Formats: sequence, structure tokens, C-alpha cells
Amino acid sequence: MILITGGAGFIGANFVLDWLALHDEPVVNLDKLTYAGNLETLASLQGDARHVFVQGDIGDSALVSHLLAEHRPRAVLHFAAESHVDRSIQGADDFIQTNVVGTFRLLEAVRTHWSALPETEKTAFRFLHVSTDEVYGSLAPDAPAFTEAHAYEPNSPYSASKAASDHLVRAWHHTHGLPVLTTNCSNNYGPFHFPEKLIPLMIVNALAGKALPVYGDGMQVRDWLYVKDHCSAIRRVLEGGALGETYNVGGWNEKPNIEIVHTVCALLDELRPRADGQSYATQITHVKDRPGHDRRYAIDARKLEAELGWKPAETFETGIRKTVQWYLDHPDWVAHVQSGAYRQWVQTQYGATATA
Ligand code: NAD
Ligand code: DAU
Repeated sequence: MILITGGAGFIGANFVLDWLALHDEPVVNLDKLTYAGNLETLASLQGDARHVFVQGDIGDSALVSHLLAEHRPRAVLHFAAESHVDRSIQGADDFIQTNVVGTFRLLEAVRTHWSALPETEKTAFRFLHVSTDEVYGSLAPDAPAFTEAHAYEPNSPYSASKAASDHLVRAWHHTHGLPVLTTNCSNNYGPFHFPEKLIPLMIVNALAGKALPVYGDGMQVRDWLYVKDHCSAIRRVLEGGALGETYNVGGWNEKPNIEIVHTVCALLDELRPRADGQSYATQITHVKDRPGHDRRYAIDARKLEAELGWKPAETFETGIRKTVQWYLDHPDWVAHVQSGAYRQWVQTQYGATATA
């Protein structure tokens, strides 16, 4: 049994779906169901006894302690976070509460539980913290990619809150001996991505005939990784990672945003051409830049490849085609997110109870 936090979000849900497709080891999924949590993503697991969903907050120490005592997971995988940079600029309260205070409370509950385990279970136990490349800050155009030794220089309220959580995880290992692993991954994309992030927003806006808002000159560079490759990296680190170590995860796919948007438009032109025969690229609009916008991220994932033999299965070309096709094939999922109907899913499917 493993316990996952944030397993109704984009990456966590993909992780749960992939895990249960590959293993019979059950998952307890603790998620608060903020606006970013969508149980409809996990609809295929309804009635599957291997998936125990619990609606709750990682900062609720009593609940987390109860779940740990009841299910005795061999590992806790911590995905839950406030994750959207633009929202952190609008207001950082939730980011500090969940990413910093929530992670602290989770670590404390896990430490108390772990300390009391019998020796064999204690030795086998793992706490895997899912973090981001944004903690390293911004790179100059020709600077080498971030290695695990790069200094932390977070620039947004979001990345600062994630950096704080990484430091807490490190300290709980160094001081208390908690068996932790940390992953720092680049930008993910793929199925079930909430359409407030660049790639899904461009797909759904394009199809709706809306403007495609590119911040500033669109020359900000990100490294893109297909979400299922991030999930495979996490599984690899969980099984083989060295305690207390951090592992960078990336796809070797550095691209400027404007190129990403043009690629999405070209795929849509091919797969779902506009009725008027024009390209979706005509909908591109340059808008005001994000304050403090990091210019470039690039991940050096050689440690993970060399020490644990991980490699991404998708290139950007294969992954983005699958992603655009997925959105074309799942108009209901998109419509329910856009109408807000996905937030009723927990009530309609599971009633008002906390545990389903
Ligand atoms: P997301 O916003 O899609 O999902 C976050 C999930 O956490 C949601 O289901 C939400 O309901 C849940 N949650 C939020 N606050 C909670 C709380 N207090 N208690 C319990 N659950 C809570 O995020 P994501 O894109 O899936 O990212 C998952 C993790 O991966 C985050 O830690 C993020 O920092 C990290 N990460 C994301 C990316 C990316 O490109 N999306 C890249 C690298 C790392
Ligand atoms: O690098 C990993 C990070 O990637 C994760 O830690 C975050 O949780 C995740 O949200 C993501 O952060 P970004 O800020 O890079 O993702 P976002 O999709 O919001 O933006 C990607 C780039 O596209 C960024 O340079 C801003 C730009 N952008 C974004 C939006 C939403 C636009 O130009 N227009 C937009 O409308």
C-alpha cells in the first residue's frame, strides 16, 4: 500500500492511473479537491478496491495520522500543492498554507508514524517529495542546464513556496533521519491537464475560437516532459533512489513558448481544421508579460539516467501529438472543467462523505 497526496490533480491522477495499470498494490489517495482536484479524471477507478480516495487536507495532522495508522503505507508520495504560478502572483496565501505549512505538518505526521514502526518496516519506508525545476530560478540563454547542485534561486511566490518545502524535506532527513527522496521536474504536459496551464489552455481556446494569449515576446524557454514519463521517473526513484538524494527529471526538450503554441496550432490544423480554412495560429495574441517571468529553465537529468537508468519514452513530437489528440477525444472532460460541473463529481458519485 502506498499513500499519495494530491492524487486528483494533473500529475497525481496520471500517477495513480499508471500505478494501478502496472501494479496491484493499493493506493490511498488524500486530496483536498481544490479547484485543481478533479475526481472525474479517476472515474475509471470507480468500484476498484485498490483505490481508496479520501477528501482531506495534508495539513490536517489528525486525519493524516489516522490514515497512516489505518493503512500502514510502505511509502508516502507527496504531490499535493498549489501549482499555478499566475495564481501565486494574484495571492500567495494558499501557496504558503499548503506548500509550506501543509508539507511541514505532513512531514511531522509521517515522522511520528515512521519513528514508531518496527525495524523492517522502518527501513523499507520512503517519503518521496515531488518538486519542480522552478526552485533553481532562471537561466541565461547559454548557461548549462540545472544540475542537482545548482543553487536555489526561486523567483515567484509559487517557486519560493516549493523551495521552502524542499528545504523542509531535506531538514527532516538530515535532522530526523526520515528516509526521503526528492524529484525536481520540468514542465509536464499530457492528458487531464487543467486548462489554465499553457498547452491545454491553447488547445481549448483554439477550439473555442478564442485568443491564444502569449505572455510578452513568447521567447521564454521551458523544458517539456510528457506526464507519463514524469510518473515513470517517480516510480524509478521510489524503488531505487538513494536516501536523502534529489533527482532532476526532464525531457531534453527545451523550447520557447511561441514555438509550443505554433506546434499546437499546426497539429490542430491537421487534426481538426478550422471551418474557414485558416490556421489556428491567426488566433495568437501577445499579451502583457507575467511579472517576474523566468526567462529560461533547462534540466540536466543525467544523474537519474546514469544512476537509475531512467529515460523518457516520449519525444516532444510524439507526446504533444498524443496530448492534442487526447483533448480532441475528451470534449466532455474539458466541458465539465469549463462549466465547473467537475466539482460536483464528488457529491454525485460519492455523496457528501469524506471517504469514498
Ligand atoms: P495540480 O494543481 O494539478 O494538482 C494539485 C492537487 O493537489 C489537486 O488535486 C489539489 O486538490 C491537491 N491539493 C492542493 N492543496 C491540497 C491540500 N492542502 N491537501 C491535499 N490536497 C491538496 O498540480 P500538478 O500539476 O499535478 O502538480 C503536482 C505536483 O508536481 C506539485 O507538487 C507541483 O509542484 C509538482 N510539479 C508540477 C509540474 C507541472 O508541470 N505541472 C512540474 C514539476 C513539478
Ligand atoms: O517548470 C515546472 C512548472 O511548470 C511547475 O512547477 C508548475 O507547477 C507548472 O504550472 C509549470 O509552471 P509554468 O509557469 O512554467 O507553467 P504555465 O503553463 O503556467 O506556463 C508555461 C509558460 O507559458 C510560462 O513561460 C508562461 C507562459 N504562458 C502561460 C500561460 C498560462 C503564456 O505565455 N500564456 C499563458 O496563457
